[in-house]
Amino acid sequence: MTQLPGAALRGRSAIVFGGTSGINLGIARAFCAQGAHVFVVSRKQENVNAAVESLRGDGGHADGLVADVRDFDAVAAIAAAVAEKAGGIDIVVSGAAGNFLASAETISSNGFRTVVDIDLIGTFHAARACHPHLRTPGASIINITAPQGAKPMIDQVHACAAKAGVNMLTRCLALEWGPQGIRVNAISPGPIGETEGMRRLAPSREAVDAITGVVPLRRFGTIAEIAEAACYLACADYVNGVVLDVDGGVMLGTGGIV
Ligand code: NAP
Ligand code: COA
Repeated sequence: MTQLPGAALRGRSAIVFGGTSGINLGIARAFCAQGAHVFVVSRKQENVNAAVESLRGDGGHADGLVADVRDFDAVAAIAAAVAEKAGGIDIVVSGAAGNFLASAETISSNGFRTVVDIDLIGTFHAARACHPHLRTPGASIINITAPQGAKPMIDQVHACAAKAGVNMLTRCLALEWGPQGIRVNAISPGPIGETEGMRRLAPSREAVDAITGVVPLRRFGTIAEIAEAACYLACADYVNGVVLDVDGGVMLGTGGIV
């Protein structure tokens, strides 16, 4: 497990958008454990402060900045600040997201737009703003997508549309920026325990049981299991344009004959 301290990312800098809680904070923690200088970014100063304190408490080399990924100028300013402080950017994780259950006939235009703005446009903003500061060759961008990006789901029209865009954005950037020495991949986590995402999508015991019942491994994944995949993609020098399912087999479906 990547929870063990190592040196795979020593001397490298990483910026983790949405890195102040849940899965993304777990990725930030694993990158710190591998020796990276990690910058976590989110909207709320108190969340940034708490995340930095927690990472430093574990011995990590961590800093934090505040920005809303929907605001390109703010994202560009923090990318420049990180590059200045760290001498360039080696790894970008785009994990900021918003989600809730809402049916297609009741979600408002602004509700739909808000999720697309954070998940899809925010992911483009992060990549576009960091691009001029990436240390190449060898830079790695890791977008956090979801099974919604490849699988239609009820009450998830907004997240499905947004994450499908993230998957295609990942492949397009991998194609366009590969020749510059920049790898662009995505991780698609399955249902992960102890996260805000699952608190929102599976708010009851029955909902948790229904979800784990269709995961071939019959359990939620853990934040550490996603962080392990992020460490792999940060170092996998010939992997480019991949959407890596880390989901206990969810994308295989239920195996019925129809
Ligand atoms: P989470 O704990 O709610 O993390 C979301 C993070 O994004 C927080 O740090 C939040 O901090 C930040 N954020 C939200 N809106 C932002 C914005 N507009 N600009 C900048 N930062 C923003 O969520 P999670 O459940 O761990 O999910 C993390 C990622 O994994 C997401 O991309 C999600 O789609 C994906 N995922 C999760 C699951 C799951 O089971 N949980 C499954 C598949 C995929 P602030 O509030 O301070 O901004
Ligand atoms: N059901 C339906 N619509 C909802 C909703 C819900 N549960 N929650 C918010 N919306 C709608 C709002 O009604 C609003 O639309 P309106 O102006 O037409 O009324 C729109 O979404 C924007 O809401 P607002 O609260 O202004 O957005 P925000 O920018 O402050 O916050 C959210 C963004 C809504 C995504 C918020 O839930 C958030 O910050 N999420 C981050 C954490 C998270 O979702 N984690 C899980 C990651 S997978």
